[in-house]
Amino acid sequence: MSDFESVLDAVRERVDPTPDERRALAAAAERLADRAREAIAELPVEADVVQVGSTARGTWVAGDRDIDLFVRFPADLPRERLREYGLEVGNEVLPDGREEYAEHPYVKGRFEGYDVDLVPCYRLESATDIQSAVDRTPFHNAYLEARLSDEDAGDVRLFKQFLKGVGAYGSDLRTQGFSGYLTELLVLEYGGFRATLEAIEDWEPPVVLDPEDHAAAEFDDALVVVDPTDPERNVAAVVSAENVARVQHYAREFLADPSEDVFEPATPDPLGAERVREYVADRGTTPLAVVFDAPDLVDDQLYPQLYRSRDGLVRGLEIEGFDVLRAATWADDRAVLFAELAVSELPAVERHEGPPVHVGGHAQGFYEKYADGDATGPFLDGDRYVVEREREITTAREFAERELAEVALGAHVESIVEAGDYDVLSGEEVAALAEGFGAELAAYFEPSV
Ligand code: CTP
Ligand code: MG
Repeated sequence: MSDFESVLDAVRERVDPTPDERRALAAAAERLADRAREAIAELPVEADVVQVGSTARGTWVAGDRDIDLFVRFPADLPRERLREYGLEVGNEVLPDGREEYAEHPYVKGRFEGYDVDLVPCYRLESATDIQSAVDRTPFHNAYLEARLSDEDAGDVRLFKQFLKGVGAYGSDLRTQGFSGYLTELLVLEYGGFRATLEAIEDWEPPVVLDPEDHAAAEFDDALVVVDPTDPERNVAAVVSAENVARVQHYAREFLADPSEDVFEPATPDPLGAERVREYVADRGTTPLAVVFDAPDLVDDQLYPQLYRSRDGLVRGLEIEGFDVLRAATWADDRAVLFAELAVSELPAVERHEGPPVHVGGHAQGFYEKYADGDATGPFLDGDRYVVEREREITTAREFAERELAEVALGAHVESIVEAGDYDVLSGEEVAALAEGFGAELAAYFEPSV
């Protein structure tokens, strides 16, 4: 047996659910659906129950314990009623559950040890009639159920675990990776795990796949997989260009030298404060950290705000003349915007250029404005007036303390910054972050693909 096959056999041992696991899950899902149907019978409206997601299709990775149950209501039911009845069924079936909000509310809870999402949606003729994203899900399920063989399902599990191992699985806005549905479509399109990796190795983004030849919309993404059930939608829209590159890197590496390691997410050993100080000293850079209590938001709202804030901080620093080597953002109950500066101090003066002397009024105005002030000059550099005036902000720390509200930040982060509810750490002070963010600091100072 080739290395490739023996590695995959070993991984299958771990990712394939046992017959017992399958039976137990199917039985629990059936009991759950029965309860949902009983709750529906109490309502003044017809509805049916469909199990969707990977546990409906045999594509879940062994040990994952989530059941997604959708309750489909008639398309003409007003949205308000759909919401009300959906929550009623959800609360009846999952009495200890809690209401969550995606595009519309659903109920999340535990049932016999499984994590259950109970989601109301509309029952529609075609996925192109959808009123909200969840209405598409039953179409995805029907499409895959009709096409995925048991062998395909096994290859989907391998590919999912591969993506989990490299950190590119999950269509949440923190990860910006591959969803379960996308994973399944790719395996179907290319015809198996190996064929998928071989195709990925040769990708030259933008990559466009259109399984049902819809040839409809144009998308502006690194990876485009036109939804077989809805030509207007790119199933891979959230996948970042970086995750496309990441998966290509690991596909190439794995095909050249198959190893089980890639299927296991790497968890770096957290750095202690002393190691952080050593890294900072060795690199000769100045890290800067803005630290605040993380706003109380779901991850899909929090992380886009943090990414935007990190990018805003970097841009703000660079416009001011500081030079950022790399930046990051992390969150647990606190959030951190982290920027490592190559240049964190600037001189007391800054150059300020005026117009060329021949530009009549403007030039004269510039000259007169600065002629009697404290600035050095005006003098000439070529045909222009120039002054060197006092710089208001000379350190990155001062910038973070005084100017942060001026940069583009996520909405909740902006309120926190405007209220001044944040701390700034600079240089070796960032070692204090080892308490709580040791693993993030390890991943930062010892980065890998
Ligand atoms: N879904 C949804 N709203 C939820 C939960 C799930 O719309 N509250 C939909 C997702 O869009 C997806 C399906 O239900 O189409 C299943 O979601 P998820 O569990 O995230 O993906 P799976 O395909 O089941 O993959 P995994 O193996 O990772 O569970
Ligand atoms: Mg699932």
